[in-house]
Amino acid sequence: MKTIHDAKEHLRFVVNLAEQAGRIVASYARGSFQVTGKGTQKDTIDIVTDADHASEDFILGEIRKRFPEHDILTEETITEKKGSDWLWVVDPLDGTVNFSHGYPAFCVSIALMQNETIVLGAVYDPLRQETFSAIRGQGAFMNGNRIQVSTAETLSRSLVATGFPYDRAYSPINNVAEFNQIVTKVQGMRRGGSAALDLSYVACGRLDGFWELKLKPWDMAAGILLVEEAGGIITDRYGKPTSVYTNNIVASNSRIHPLLLELLAKSESA
Ligand code: IPD
Ligand code: CA
Ligand code: CA
Ligand code: CA
Repeated sequence: MKTIHDAKEHLRFVVNLAEQAGRIVASYARGSFQVTGKGTQKDTIDIVTDADHASEDFILGEIRKRFPEHDILTEETITEKKGSDWLWVVDPLDGTVNFSHGYPAFCVSIALMQNETIVLGAVYDPLRQETFSAIRGQGAFMNGNRIQVSTAETLSRSLVATGFPYDRAYSPINNVAEFNQIVTKVQGMRRGGSAALDLSYVACGRLDGFWELKLKPWDMAAGILLVEEAGGIITDRYGKPTSVYTNNIVASNSRIHPLLLELLAKSESA
């Protein structure tokens, strides 16, 4: 992808793909679907449904058709590495637990990376029909309208969100200690259940900040770019730069960032 024209065309492909996949997910939400346990905590916390698979099969098929040389990283399917500079990072259904309960907060997230750089991405919420999209260097958009992070300067005026890893025994960082440290200082705290939507909401200013441990590249890739392109900041909990492979992330409007980092540091010594 050498020219802007190319990037725009690629973004149209990504947006279209996310929207079509989102409609597949929404059609399962209106009908019935199978829920299966995966991972080490079988059947309870880490689950997958027919909708995750149907969305992923569709997205994989379309990317393979159009970009047969490119690498693809998805949550549910192991794909072989082709050694390409281009990597598609796909979460076919972010918010599976919400989806499985009929709780209306889930989305599809697709990003394209060139080596270590996220170049473009889209997050689609099929229930609200909201499409968040960005090309690096060209701003972030929701349904075609430019979006910006919030301007909140204090935690007491901030709505922040977090999530809890499926791995409940995760250490050495204690999620509950973090939560306790922050919940009493902010105006409001949410646990939305879809990291890609949480990041999209930071990008459009509905949330002022978000942090979570142990996210995966497909949870974050499109969302990280959205926050950055909307004027926000992303670091790890120690204030260091992150990549999609970093296992903890703090995203905010940049003004409240140092305040969040301070509380996260405090939670480690509490
Ligand atoms: C999950 C969601 C959730 C976050 C989990 C993720 P999934 O993704 O983003 O909000 O707390 O860590 O794994 O499994 O629903 O695609
Ligand atoms: Ca999952
Ligand atoms: Ca996810
Ligand atoms: Ca998923």
